[in-house]
Amino acid sequence: MFQINENYLKLQGSYLFSTIASKVAAYSAANPQKDILRLGIGDVTLPLAPAVIDAMKNAVEEMAHPETFRGYAPDGGYEFLRRAICEHDYRSRGADIGTDEIFVSDGAKSDSGNIGDIFGMQNRIAVCDPVYPVYLDTNVMGGRTGLADPLTGRYEGVIYLPCTEENGFVPQFPSERPDIIYLCFPNNPTGMTISKSELQKWVDYALNSGSVIIYDAAYEAYIREDGIAHTIYECEGAKKCAIELRSFSKNAGFTGTRLGFTVVPKQLMCGDVSLNDLWARRQSTKFNGAPYIVQRAGEAVYSEEGRRQTREQVDYYMRNAACILDGLKAAGYTVYGGVNAPYIWLKTPGQMTSWEFFDHLLERAAVVGTPGSGFGPAGEHFFRLTAFGSYENTKAAVERICSL
Ligand code: MLT
Repeated sequence: MFQINENYLKLQGSYLFSTIASKVAAYSAANPQKDILRLGIGDVTLPLAPAVIDAMKNAVEEMAHPETFRGYAPDGGYEFLRRAICEHDYRSRGADIGTDEIFVSDGAKSDSGNIGDIFGMQNRIAVCDPVYPVYLDTNVMGGRTGLADPLTGRYEGVIYLPCTEENGFVPQFPSERPDIIYLCFPNNPTGMTISKSELQKWVDYALNSGSVIIYDAAYEAYIREDGIAHTIYECEGAKKCAIELRSFSKNAGFTGTRLGFTVVPKQLMCGDVSLNDLWARRQSTKFNGAPYIVQRAGEAVYSEEGRRQTREQVDYYMRNAACILDGLKAAGYTVYGGVNAPYIWLKTPGQMTSWEFFDHLLERAAVVGTPGSGFGPAGEHFFRLTAFGSYENTKAAVERICSL
C-alpha cells in the first residue's frame, strides 16, 4: 500500500485564504443581494500598466512567427530580464548582484515554498508570529516541524519570533539559535517594517550564528520613508547569509500574470557547497521557466514608462492605505502599518477574537478582511485590511466599518 506524506496531516485547517474564500462564497450565496467589499487577500485590482500590455502584445506577436518563436526559456530566466533586474533593483541601490545570481520564476509564493528543497531536514526554522503562512506551512509539509500544539497553535520545533504591539512589531533575537530565519519587510501581515540598521543587526546575527536568512522583499515598492532597506543586500555581509525573494505581483500587478525571482548570491556557502549551485540544480530539474511573454512583460516594468506607470499604481494603493488608516483612526480604532506597506493591521474592538471580528464585519457590513490569528497566535485580536481594492470600494468599506 502506498503511503502519503504524513507531514501534511500536521497542517492546521486549510490554507488561510482558501478558508476565507469559502466563507465569503457561502455568505454571498446566502445573501445574493449584498454588495460585498473585499479587503481580504492582497490581490491587486488595477489593470496591468500600458507599457506592460504593449510588451506582452509584442511578445505574443513574436510567438506567432517561426523566426521569433521561443520554446523553453533559459534556466534562470532570459538575460534581458535578469539584466534589467540587476540594474534597477540592485546596482541602483548599491548592491552588486550579478545576473547569474538571479533566478526568474513564476512568483515569490512558489519560491518561498520551493527554497526549502535545498535545505536539510534537521534545520530549525525561525518565523515571525504573525507570519505569511506559506513559510511555515511549507516547512510543516517538508517535515521540518513537529506537531502543532492544539492550545497554542504553535508547531513543535519551530522558533517563533513574536511581533507584537509591545515590541513595535519588530522581531527580537531568539534565545535558541535558528538555522533558517524567514524575514519579510515591509511586513505581511502587519504592514510594519524595520529600519536598515535593524536589518543590518539581523544580518550580523545570521553571520555570527551561521544561519541563513530567507528575506521576502515582495513589498519593497511601498517603502515611503528613508532609512529602510529596499533589498537586504544593502546591508553589509548579506551576500554571505541571505537569499532574497522578489515578486512582480504587488509592484506591477502580476498576481494573475505570475512572475518573480529569487536572488541566491554566489558568496552564500554552506561549507564548500554553493547554494547558488544547489538552487540552479533544483530549478533546472523541477522548473521550466516563466513564459517568454511574461518575462518580456516583466522587462517592460523597468522601462521608463513602465516605472512611471507602475509607480502610479503603487501610489494609488497607498492612497487607499491612507484612507483606511485615517478613517479607522478617526473612528477610534488602534491601527498599525499602512505607511510603508499596503496592509493595515488593526486591533479588534472590544476584545473580539480575530474570527469574531471577521464574522461581525462580513455579516454587519459585508466587508471582507483577514483575521490576524490566521497568520499565527500572536495575530489574535488583530485584523488585516488590504489597500489593493479600488479607491471607491476602499472608501465605502471604511465608511461601513466606521458606522458599525
Ligand atoms: C496576502 O494576502 O497575504 C497575499 O496576497 C498572499 C500572497 O501574496 O500570496
